[in-house]
Amino acid sequence: MTSPQAATVTADTAEKPAKSNVEEVLVLDFGGQYSQLIARRIRECGVFAELLPTTVSAEAIKARKPKALVLSGGPASVYEPDAPAFPTDLLDLGIPMLGICYGMQAMVLALGGKVEGAEAGEFGRAELTLRNDGGRLLGGLPEEQSCWMSHRDSVFEPPQGFRALASTPASPVAACEAPDRGLYGIQFHPEVVHTPYGTEVLTRFLREIAACEEQWSAESVIAEQVAAIRAQVGEGRVICGLSGGVDSSVAALLVHSAVGEQLTCVFVDHGLMRLNEAEQVVEAFGQFGIPLVHVDAEERFLARLAGVDEPERKRKIIGEEFIRVFEEEAAKLEDAAYLVQGTLYSDVIESGGSDAADTIKSHHNVGGLPDDLELELVEPLRMLFKDEVRAVGAELGLPERMVWRQPFPGPGLAIRIVGGEVTKDRLDILRTADAILQEEIRAAELYRQLWQSFCVLPVVRSVGVQGDGRTYAYPIVIRAVTSDDAMTADWARLPYDLLERASNRIINEIRDVNRVALDISSKPPATIEWE
Ligand code: XMP
Repeated sequence: MTSPQAATVTADTAEKPAKSNVEEVLVLDFGGQYSQLIARRIRECGVFAELLPTTVSAEAIKARKPKALVLSGGPASVYEPDAPAFPTDLLDLGIPMLGICYGMQAMVLALGGKVEGAEAGEFGRAELTLRNDGGRLLGGLPEEQSCWMSHRDSVFEPPQGFRALASTPASPVAACEAPDRGLYGIQFHPEVVHTPYGTEVLTRFLREIAACEEQWSAESVIAEQVAAIRAQVGEGRVICGLSGGVDSSVAALLVHSAVGEQLTCVFVDHGLMRLNEAEQVVEAFGQFGIPLVHVDAEERFLARLAGVDEPERKRKIIGEEFIRVFEEEAAKLEDAAYLVQGTLYSDVIESGGSDAADTIKSHHNVGGLPDDLELELVEPLRMLFKDEVRAVGAELGLPERMVWRQPFPGPGLAIRIVGGEVTKDRLDILRTADAILQEEIRAAELYRQLWQSFCVLPVVRSVGVQGDGRTYAYPIVIRAVTSDDAMTADWARLPYDLLERASNRIINEIRDVNRVALDISSKPPATIEWE
């Protein structure tokens, strides 16, 4: 969940080492589409990596004493007037540098090689042929292999002292190196799955060239965060708002591992959760022996939602009510001084990113708390990507169901009852339909492959026939999407027999439903949720 206080990645981020005792690789972000993915892949190789904007000063980078630098791809052409330049003042660091795509072109140009625009760019899969036995970086890999390209300019000649290591039909120099100076460049993207040997190339760079040792893992994160939380919190009392999602659950578990009963979790149950989800949260945290205040606030929320059908008003009401309930509970824990937030690394990066265009929906997180709550934030997931949060959760013993829970919007089922008032009856219908769909999707072993899967209840009625009688009841819409980040999504091609089972069960088991439809819209132009 995005914290309102999530800090921006600014130039001074680099001056505050996030990790003190783990060796690290810094990825300088030239604005490439895959920059975050580069950092993730490096971490998957067991090496801590952090993404930094190119505005960070050379001194700040030097102060962090990285084991290596990786320069990302980017949208600019090296010949554009404001194109970000290769940081030549970092050459005297004497550590290995790997330029990827634009990062390689910027390196080559700065050191006297030849980069030129080609007539056509090279986008997508390309056949890579090794030269000079692949050199130190690519040696031992297959002579011919495929790789993923995304560029218009190409390197035509490497700088003096460099050797060309590979080429593709459109890139005369698709990789080059000057090992004695620790400089390496690849035009292709090793971080995407379409480059089959990408992980091997990264591993070679990290382990053999930069001599990084394996030490970044779920266990190391836990050890590190537990120590950091203890240092920050001391003897203080800590509160954590739980949403049922993986982020707040893992954050709470980490804090509990660090300071035990100094932590109290507050779970505001707004009555808009999925079937049995509230119970699962209570049970899981009970098993860990974590003090939990479970506030059953269903009636309060429904009373405030009475008569409301406009999507943004619903969100606003739910957000406000959530804060009110949370504040009331926090006030009861008088000596609490710290508040846990499940801010993730992607939130940190994104809040420093471009000013998002139009507000399509106010994704104001229920669980996003007011700024004036006078509590100091504890954010143990700030450096973690989502998949790392899951790994940490699994390591800490969080039930599999919670570790792999699909994203669920803060306002819950309220934004899935569309075109009419949110009532208890409608919520129960939707909850039951949704539970049937979830059950069938899990039984078909498709749950993890889907970004989200859920039901929507449009408040309209249609005519049907059941048991020789006329019915006039609600439809249920099945929505299932695949996505990487929710920015874009495609409708999932669910198997017909699964759809058939879900449809039959929903209509047979829920009296008030006589029709099931499937949403086959992608995002854009639709959104994932209906409201
Ligand atoms: P859309 O519907 O805009 O959703 O394609 C993108 C992702 O955001 C989730 N979502 C929300 N999450 N509060 C949240 O915490 C909200 O108000 C909200 N609205 C949408 C949605 O489930 C999807 O994962």
